[in-house]
Amino acid sequence: MEVVIVPDAKAGGALIAGAMADLLRRTPDALLGVATGSTPLPVYEALAAQVRSGSVNTSRARIAQLDEYVGLTADHPESYRSVLRREVLEPLGIGMDAFMGPDGTAEDVQAACEAYDRALTEAGGVDLQLLGIGTDGHIGFNEPCSSLVSRTRIKTLTEQTRVDNARFFDDIDQVPHHVITQGIGTILEARHLVLLATGEGKADAVAATVEGPVAAVCPASALQLHPHATVVVDEAAASKL
Ligand code: GLP
Repeated sequence: MEVVIVPDAKAGGALIAGAMADLLRRTPDALLGVATGSTPLPVYEALAAQVRSGSVNTSRARIAQLDEYVGLTADHPESYRSVLRREVLEPLGIGMDAFMGPDGTAEDVQAACEAYDRALTEAGGVDLQLLGIGTDGHIGFNEPCSSLVSRTRIKTLTEQTRVDNARFFDDIDQVPHHVITQGIGTILEARHLVLLATGEGKADAVAATVEGPVAAVCPASALQLHPHATVVVDEAAASKL
């Protein structure tokens, strides 16, 4: 695992956008795994600036979703599909035809999870998976004590994660209890994992990820098992290393 400490979130965003741009220059149809949340926004902004300036071409790029709320329709503004369309696909000039994600409104959610997991493999696998991290060390929506070999499946959110994510909704009661997430085993199949963490609130989770034991109690610690994992942290998130 490589740990890169950057001065601030903007620098982290620029660094990771640079890696994504290099990948797209080498492999124009690369499958980029993207995450939601506030942390990755500087990555998407920096990459969109490169697209606008013409230094990178996204016309063949493909995007894969990491996780999704169960029960929010695709056009709900806080479904992750909507969030990614708004924050990633549109700014990068990538159409929904190049997007893959699980169906959070499927009648048989477990079958939809399995179908998505298979689809990722059939698409050739994720080339670069960008990850944020929850304050409790979750990646995607793999909450503490998720199996380190888990596949895409339905999970129940912890109260802490519902509280953390309530800021995106009018009221905490609107935050779904159930989600679909790529499993930790699924995530580990990506060829390059890049985790970005910024701010003091992530310092404990980052310390457990990088310096703690590989343990299901901190799902992000599974990155230690991956042959090509990069953890990008700002000074504040690195403060407990
Ligand atoms: C959610 C998402 C995660 C994300 C986490 C942290 O739980 N499912 O993928 O990493 O939030 O979000 P933020 O970056 O806003 O702190």
